[in-house]
Amino acid sequence: MSRIVYVNGEYLPEDQARVSVFDRGFLFADGVYEVTSVIDGKLVDFPGHAARLERSLAELDMPSPMTSGELLAIHRELVARNDVTEGMVYLQITRGAPADRDFVFPDPAETPQTVVLFTQSKGLVDSPAAQTGLKVISIPDIRWGRRDIKTVQLLYPSVGKMMARRAGADDAWMVEDGFVTEGTSNNAYIVKDGRIITRQLGNEILHGITRAAVLAFAREAQMQVEERPFTIEEAQAADEAFITSASTFVMPVVSVDGVALGDGKPGPVARRLREIYIEQSRKAAV
Ligand code: PDD
Repeated sequence: MSRIVYVNGEYLPEDQARVSVFDRGFLFADGVYEVTSVIDGKLVDFPGHAARLERSLAELDMPSPMTSGELLAIHRELVARNDVTEGMVYLQITRGAPADRDFVFPDPAETPQTVVLFTQSKGLVDSPAAQTGLKVISIPDIRWGRRDIKTVQLLYPSVGKMMARRAGADDAWMVEDGFVTEGTSNNAYIVKDGRIITRQLGNEILHGITRAAVLAFAREAQMQVEERPFTIEEAQAADEAFITSASTFVMPVVSVDGVALGDGKPGPVARRLREIYIEQSRKAAV
């Protein structure tokens, strides 16, 4: 069955969907995106993703092409048309396709934005990686300074993932001024003496929607949370570590730059938070 995707108001088979070669997403990475997970055919943390999208658009002086209610309807329609029970919905909004390549932003009244959504079916809950845990390496964070905006400038994160692969690892944690910022496509955490430590919000990291939910659940469960920077050395001396994102939920990390954490197996805090997050998301999904 051909996948049905959404492009600028139309639901089309993927091989009939078209975006212009002059699209600013293609030429300038001038676009923002969201990834929302699907469990049991329902959307997880949708209000958070819709709110962050609004913020990303506003920070880049882009209008909102539709209300969050309309956005939700399109997400649901795509999930239904593609029979997705578990997986993701990817959404991208670019500044559109002006007549010529020009660094200056086009007038939004003349150049409509490009809106694309598509689904990816994928098992997320019974992930084999959640049983074994991930190996991460550290790499310098050389991305631009506004990582709080969810732009489609993903070349360095993609290069970072390849550096990890070549080093026999699963992912990379990025380091700036001696401290971990985040993973290539996820937020990073360590656990020491029962305390959960993760970098505080700022322009240096993406404000993860999963991060917000997981930290709230952790606090509700009386776990201690410290939002502050940590180093790779501190991570290597931690009892356990994990990452969070819409596509991995809570995923244990078992080694950092070749140093095994604790007994080298997924730790109890990461395992428990993963259980809680999946359980609560199932209940709250829309
Ligand atoms: N990535 N940090 C970065 C750099 C990210 O790209 C992501 C998400 C996160 C976690 O955010 P959230 O919990 O809202 O998914 C943190 C998505 C999943 C992606 O690019 O596929």
